[in-house]
Amino acid sequence: MAEIKSSAVPRGLGATQRRDAWWLELLPTIVGLGGFGLYATLRAFEGVYYWAAPYLSPFYSPLIDPQHHVWPFSPALLILAGPLGFRMTCYYYRKAYYRAFFLDPPSCAVGEPAARKYRGETRFPFILQNLHRYFLYLAVLFICFLWYDALRAFRLDGHFFVGVGTLVLLTNVILLTLYLFSCHSLRHIIGGKVDCFSCTAFNQTRHGAWKKASWLNERHMLFAWLSLFSVGFADFYVRMVATGLIKDFRLL
Ligand code: FES
Repeated sequence: MAEIKSSAVPRGLGATQRRDAWWLELLPTIVGLGGFGLYATLRAFEGVYYWAAPYLSPFYSPLIDPQHHVWPFSPALLILAGPLGFRMTCYYYRKAYYRAFFLDPPSCAVGEPAARKYRGETRFPFILQNLHRYFLYLAVLFICFLWYDALRAFRLDGHFFVGVGTLVLLTNVILLTLYLFSCHSLRHIIGGKVDCFSCTAFNQTRHGAWKKASWLNERHMLFAWLSLFSVGFADFYVRMVATGLIKDFRLL
């Protein structure tokens, strides 16, 4: 195998032998993730316009102490750590924001800022990324609440009801479920850690579940982005209806 002399490899931030527009892939992350982060932060602190019967904003679900008996601030702040921690520690998002916001490295085979020692995720604060599997358990709990909210949106004043908002909440929870079920940690739990499926209990069932999880996992980036937009849009829609800026149309 031919030896690559280190002197032939460009060094320093942005140094590369790549000829393609590698920096283009950073822009959607900066705009999409940065924009969502800003909007979600403002909405989480706003503390109002999260309910427009029969719709509850996903940013505020589960809704805890809305009457402020104990907690004087926005109810969204009580639950923010769950979904935020799950997204922040997601393997896909880690790659995306390490590149886009830390330029560490900016892309494959592109130089990172000088004088940085690579330590992986073995030191504080990045060692906390290993909490992802525990945030996954929390996310399972959250998705149950969101499914409850989506199904509740099919009833208004005791009658069956379908409004535009019902479809918005339903689409959102489906995309969030796909994002959750395509998680790398979940795939690992289901069968990624297994060397021999035929040696395990329920081997055929487990192998089938692992194949489905693998199919979803290959599309994890897609579901990560779709669910990010859908959850932001669902909150935005509920807010618009709650403030009276738009009217929710009844379809059925
Ligand atoms: S790896 Fe992305 S949600 Fe688990």
